[in-house]
Amino acid sequence: MLIQHILGVSGLAAAGLFIFGLKRMSSPVTALSGIVVAGIGMVVAVAASFLTVFDLPAEVGPYRTVNVILALLALCAGGGWAFLRGRKVEMTAMPQMVALYNGMGGGAAAAVAAVELSTRGVHAALILAVTAAGALIGSISLTGSVIAWAKLDGRIRNPWRFTGQRIVNGVLFLATVLVGVAMVAFFGTANSPLLAALFFLGALAFGIMMTLPIGGADMPVVISLYNAFTGLAVGLEGYALQNPALMIAGMVVGSAGTLLTVLMAKAMNRSLANVLFSNFGDVAVGSGSEAHGEMKSTEPNDAGIAMRYASSVIIIPGYGLAVAQAQQKLYEFVKLLQAAGVGVKFAIHPVAGRMPGHMNVLLAEAGVPYDIIFDMEDINAEFANTDVALVIGANDVVNPAARTDKSSPIYGMPILDADQAHQVYVVKRGQGKGYSGVENLLFFNENCSMVYGDAQAVLTQMVQAVKDLGA
Ligand code: TAP
Repeated sequence: MLIQHILGVSGLAAAGLFIFGLKRMSSPVTALSGIVVAGIGMVVAVAASFLTVFDLPAEVGPYRTVNVILALLALCAGGGWAFLRGRKVEMTAMPQMVALYNGMGGGAAAAVAAVELSTRGVHAALILAVTAAGALIGSISLTGSVIAWAKLDGRIRNPWRFTGQRIVNGVLFLATVLVGVAMVAFFGTANSPLLAALFFLGALAFGIMMTLPIGGADMPVVISLYNAFTGLAVGLEGYALQNPALMIAGMVVGSAGTLLTVLMAKAMNRSLANVLFSNFGDVAVGSGSEAHGEMKSTEPNDAGIAMRYASSVIIIPGYGLAVAQAQQKLYEFVKLLQAAGVGVKFAIHPVAGRMPGHMNVLLAEAGVPYDIIFDMEDINAEFANTDVALVIGANDVVNPAARTDKSSPIYGMPILDADQAHQVYVVKRGQGKGYSGVENLLFFNENCSMVYGDAQAVLTQMVQAVKDLGA
């Protein structure tokens, strides 16, 4: 009884810490402490779960020590690996890491369900159904996330598509659900192990089949969706085990993941169905209207000096900045401009880069103060009164075709109004397209000059040019 009380209170405390931590993660200023608070919640929940061994039925008693040792070994192996990997992982490889951790969460929920479904005790039909639903969602999240990881990591290069694929996937999903229903109905009979095996195989296979046809570039949205799946699976297993900490943590992750998925899709002006089924980014989905005019180019030195004599500059970072890992150099350049009296601000598009908050993390890593970083809706009105917009490694998020060209796949996506600045400089290596694969009309504007080169090399030259001017 006492143990049940302690478990209940610690579960509630852990849930409170998760929610408080999540709240603090909503601002870059408090995000780090939010992660620490949520981490403490997780430690409380994991530590408290060890108490359950003292509450086990008598027949399980002899296995108590073995179970505790196995759990501690698993904790050390998983925690140790995550600690070492997390310290070394490159910022550009963060989405892959999130995909793997996410898959493991789904796999853990499915494993809990497998244990529950293989115990012979009497289970209420509702508990069995909830366990099976968690197993289905967790298994899909496990294999789907592994495929997402392999795609992001370049291990699976081409999407796998064939005629009638959606029908095959639909049949596989329906068959798995039906086997799941039979498994619950015939639970405890001689056939139930076979049904359970078929059910898990079907769910794991569906995760693979559902993810393989989706283009690699859409994986961040897919990972966010699987994150929501994992949360839901954990919440359902929490219900099956009557564990409040699992239930609340699962629901928090599930709802946060769902919101993030919806926000990402909305910021790209796409529906979730379009992300999952349209093959966007891999094939020409409609390349938009032809661009008119000519691209002009200028040297890094000239662009750097022009910005030194401007009174206001807005910088728009994009995916290319992350690829070049030029955030430190960029901030060095910004400090030189500020020292010369130039007002510098950063404008962040909600889906710049390849993961939510990608640019914020990049700029925070370089030490850029938060008070000069602005969200799209807070800064867009300022471009018209700004001397220079410096677009660095960004493309789609400043493409005016999104406003005007109905034939463009990015039509309707909200963009940063960089084209309205008096002068625009675009730093990129060459004629490469952005993620959507369409031409950027901004590059052909009268007020736009291209500065060709890797962002790191270009910024190094800009910094030198401004330094050479002296005080
Ligand atoms: P993109 O449209 O992908 O454009 C990046 C540009 O960077 C490319 O045109 C490339 O041109 C340039 N580049 C690459 N490496 C470079 C380097 N080393 N130095 C300088 N430039 C380099 O990036 P964006 O404007 O950030 O837009 C993000 C896109 O990703 C949006 O379409 C968005 O919908 C999509 N997306 C975002 C997310 C999230 S959550 N952020 C998730 C999925 C998809 P060159 O090859 O010519 O250099």
